[in-house]
Amino acid sequence: MDNETTTGHVTRKAVLRAAIAAGIAAPAVLMGVPALARTLTAGDTAPALTPECDDGDDPTPPQTEGPYFKPNSPLRTSLLEAGTAGVRLTVSGYVFGLACRPISGVLLDFWQADTNGAYDNTGFRFRGHQFTDAQGAFRLTTIVPGLYPGRTRHIHVKLQAPGRPVLTTQLYFPNEPRNNTDSIFDPRLLMTVRDAGGAREAAFDFVLNVPQNPGPTPTATATTQPPGGSWAAGTAYRAGDRVTYGGLAYVCLQAHTGQTGWEPPHVPALWRVG
Ligand SMILES: [Fe+2]
Repeated sequence: MDNETTTGHVTRKAVLRAAIAAGIAAPAVLMGVPALARTLTAGDTAPALTPECDDGDDPTPPQTEGPYFKPNSPLRTSLLEAGTAGVRLTVSGYVFGLACRPISGVLLDFWQADTNGAYDNTGFRFRGHQFTDAQGAFRLTTIVPGLYPGRTRHIHVKLQAPGRPVLTTQLYFPNEPRNNTDSIFDPRLLMTVRDAGGAREAAFDFVLNVPQNPGPTPTATATTQPPGGSWAAGTAYRAGDRVTYGGLAYVCLQAHTGQTGWEPPHVPALWRVG
């Protein structure tokens, strides 16, 4: 699995994530970017980052709530119940603010279809809410949701940082055929998913529109890239196509038509540096 930490372009979020994993206070680590970059490259322990969160990046995009949200879901991190059918799935990650610092106490309210593509509209099966921990982390234990007509595979979620507006959005799975035909699908919301002994482990980091003190300025390797290159919105790209953007070369991973907001650094599910 490729990830940007192997490319030499190290984002503020990558550094923060590594800091969190290492149990180091973020501001101290921000001043040590090069050392952490080398650590990550050597250890290959950091998952791919989706979406990227560096200075100036946009928050996680909103999505339609759809017809099946219900308030008052139970407080629980596992949606599994006795006899639950389906492929086991964990979704884990962090919630960041605009300066890419983790936010604790963020409400995440998940709801999804069962393995047959049905929502429970009378009870609360496959519905639950939780809060990010002191490190801004969350972890959901559930199953891979089934497909239902008209949509690709997805998980719904509402997020709310303390005292802030609600973000309603959805998470998607890579390599789903219906991703290409679902008009709601947005590759910026693709999780990183891997097989784990018959189960699936997914990762996704949210960025909320929450102002934050950015803290110490990272070193030059973590600053924004120059714009420009051969990538262009409106172009139909096929897997294997090559473009340049922001001074880096990228290879297309999935066929799609480029759109503003889907620039190669923002959609690692569609483009990898290479
Ligand atoms: Fe849905």
